[in-house]
Amino acid sequence: LNLGVLASGRGSNFQAIIDEIEAGRLDAEIKILIVDNPNAYAIERAKRHSIEYLYINPKEFPSKDDFFIKIADELKSRDVELVILAGFMRIVRKFLIDAFPNRIMNIHPALLPSFPGLHGQKQAVDYGIRISGCTVHFVDEGMDTGPVIIQAAVPVSPDDTEDSLSARILKLEHKIFPEAIRLYAEGRLSVEGRVVKIKGY
Ligand code: GRF
Repeated sequence: LNLGVLASGRGSNFQAIIDEIEAGRLDAEIKILIVDNPNAYAIERAKRHSIEYLYINPKEFPSKDDFFIKIADELKSRDVELVILAGFMRIVRKFLIDAFPNRIMNIHPALLPSFPGLHGQKQAVDYGIRISGCTVHFVDEGMDTGPVIIQAAVPVSPDDTEDSLSARILKLEHKIFPEAIRLYAEGRLSVEGRVVKIKGY
């Protein structure tokens, strides 16, 4: 399975996917990492693992649509089959979604549909809920609104801070993101309306 990864920062989820592939537990190849931020630490990870990377500066394009058309072109030219948003801090525009229908996955650090958007972990702490977690979903044009693939839950204590909860959630992100990609690679995912069916799950 040919993957294209989009990231804006640290890239720890990108790393988790690299590690699963290198350990032989995920039958996939990362064809390219695309970043919208030249300082993204994800670039160092790509270098270390000899993965091609590309910085695309959104400011160089006349519109957001043009920026996403460029991304779609770069992915298509490398025969990417599944696009992974690994901490990509932008709402994906229609052009990219139409180029990869139900073939773009995102990870969100909350149990959607609760706490979409930025700072899902802080939203959970501030709200005072007792269970949060993370969600892998297919991407549609909304913000964190696409069909849910898998989720994992963690307890939240009244003493948690944004940082402590984020760390607990991140450990599970690193498990369920590669797991969702594996399910896709094994041909076990299908989308019916907004429900994702998983064969043999
Ligand atoms: C993660 O918390 C993820 O859920 C969110 O952005 C963060 C990315 O972290 N979408 P990293 O760059 O993968 O370390």
